Amino acid sequence: MKVVVLTGAGISAESGVSTFRDNGGLWEDHRIEDVATPEGFERDPETVQRFYDARRAALADVVPNPAHHALAELELALGDGLLVVTQNVDDLHERAGSKRVIHMHGELLQALCAACETRSPWAGDLLGGPACPACDAAALRPDVVWFGEIPYEMDRIQSALAGADLFVSIGTSGAVYPAAGFVQLARAFGARTLELNLEPSDGSHFFHEARHGRAGEIVPGWVADLVG
Ligand code: OAD
Repeated sequence: MKVVVLTGAGISAESGVSTFRDNGGLWEDHRIEDVATPEGFERDPETVQRFYDARRAALADVVPNPAHHALAELELALGDGLLVVTQNVDDLHERAGSKRVIHMHGELLQALCAACETRSPWAGDLLGGPACPACDAAALRPDVVWFGEIPYEMDRIQSALAGADLFVSIGTSGAVYPAAGFVQLARAFGARTLELNLEPSDGSHFFHEARHGRAGEIVPGWVADLVG
């Protein structure tokens, strides 16, 4: 069986990572357009670097929750049959043990060099203009895909969706494309589709089936139904 799971901020909510749209368009007290667009970065790079430096540092205070662990268990059962595509920039899937993960919106623990485009592992701060490990330029930015930029690994994601028997969307509002369109794509290619979310998402009606509740409860329940 081939399963593609798309995850969003809702899967990390019970770990204490803020979602984007559950608090009136503010993300940790910032407007999304100020901290998640290339224009916002151009206007005020210091604020944006400080913002992601704080998000990166905050990873030390959070741990994976039962939903992340359940997906890692599912991977143990399905091997290459499972691909997790996450919109999240945290590393909670990896810390739970998932190995087959695509971070389509980038990762907090990586830096992207605007000069040479190398992506380097990065655990510290970016404020202050540290040198790129590859080219030495002081041109590092968070390796996070902002609005108006193209998500990573779309070709790999699309071929996985084309071959999927089951597509499951977990903890995402369905507000941001292209991820919001994956359900229709997978369905058009013949996959069964399931939404697992706190409440019906914007695209809930596109799914064959939906289960609503907290990810930490409904994801382990679904995994147990599938392979338990
Ligand atoms: P959102 O904040 O838009 O949506 C989070 C979803 O998770 C909502 O539908 C909530 O109802 C649901 N949710 C909240 N708590 C939950 C819980 N405990 N269990 C299950 N579901 C829960 O986050 P995303 O859909 O991930 O992009 O946002 C998509 C993209 O928009 C992000 O990757 C980011 C953002 O701007 C970029 O930065 C490019």
